[in-house]
Amino acid sequence: VTVEDPARILARVDGYLHLVPLSGARAHEIDRFTLFRSTTAWSYYARPRPPEASGPTTDFTATDIERLWTRCRELRVPLSLEWVHQLAPSLAGAAVAAGLVVVEHPLLVLRPADFRPAAGPAGVSVEIVAADRTALVTARAVADVAFGVPGTQVGEAGAGERDGTAAKVGAARGNALLERTRNGVTVTAVALRDDGRPIASGQHQPVGTVTEVVAVATLPAFRRRGLAAAVTSLLVTDAFERGVDLVMLSAQNDDVARIYERLGFARIGSVAAAEPPDLTTTGPT
Ligand SMILES: CC(C)(COP(=O)(O)OP(=O)(O)OC[C@H]1O[C@@H](n2cnc3c(N)ncnc32)[C@H](O)[C@@H]1OP(=O)(O)O)[C@@H](O)C(=O)NCCC(=O)NCCS
Repeated sequence: VTVEDPARILARVDGYLHLVPLSGARAHEIDRFTLFRSTTAWSYYARPRPPEASGPTTDFTATDIERLWTRCRELRVPLSLEWVHQLAPSLAGAAVAAGLVVVEHPLLVLRPADFRPAAGPAGVSVEIVAADRTALVTARAVADVAFGVPGTQVGEAGAGERDGTAAKVGAARGNALLERTRNGVTVTAVALRDDGRPIASGQHQPVGTVTEVVAVATLPAFRRRGLAAAVTSLLVTDAFERGVDLVMLSAQNDDVARIYERLGFARIGSVAAAEPPDLTTTGPT
């Protein structure tokens, strides 16, 4: 067994994060950043170019951000930045100095040797969703409802809210989900109740030997039964079966990170994101 050092793992994660948007966006190089301009039904963001490409300097300043912000305004793309904090440690301060709001999320990784799978609770089955528009849209509706009720606590919203939300997912998003599933760009897993309908869902997006688990979500009424753990476990199993050997994810917060740590994920750093404080802010004048 070869042990990969943390710096190498962070570089692989960063390389992955710089490639994965290309399934739904075009890359525009703007100074020290790559702006991913969406070609699909949801928006993307800009990232600092990987350290090899932009040179060893990591001394970002507010001026770098302001130039990017000006260019985004010219292109009519809202400014949104994401990066691995440990690979661009000066970027958070620069973003704050330029007037952006910065948030950080725990970055976790899992190697095959560390995986501790979790089965779902009795009466619930977990499965990978086929390239079926209705099934994909219903799984997406589970996520839309769940992300509308943040945190890990049990709540009221359940199957009724899911079905009401499914009607609002929209043709463009439905088409994009179907095409991405057909192409193997996105893999969706669900936990199904005995009526065969989903109550938890999640996705992973393999690129080569790395994948990211995203959008893990449980309807509020069905939380704290082990469904997120079971859905994530199936996504990881699927990824390793496809030849992936590094699964990453950024967790909403420490409470959510604990769910993944029980499966064997370990913290390796943090993912940072920066945006203007409100939608009416249009950037430097
Ligand atoms: C985060 C989220 C996906 C977790 O879903 P979940 O299905 O409730 O997750 P799990 O049941 O696997 O784990 C949640 C907790 O229930 C506990 N639990 C699991 N099975 C249990 C059982 N049978 N009895 C009691 N507790 C149980 C877990 O140990 C965990 O406890 P902890 O908070 O002390 O660590 C869900 O709360 C959610 O959708 N939140 C909003 C969206 C979001 O933030 N998603 C995460 C993106 S990274």
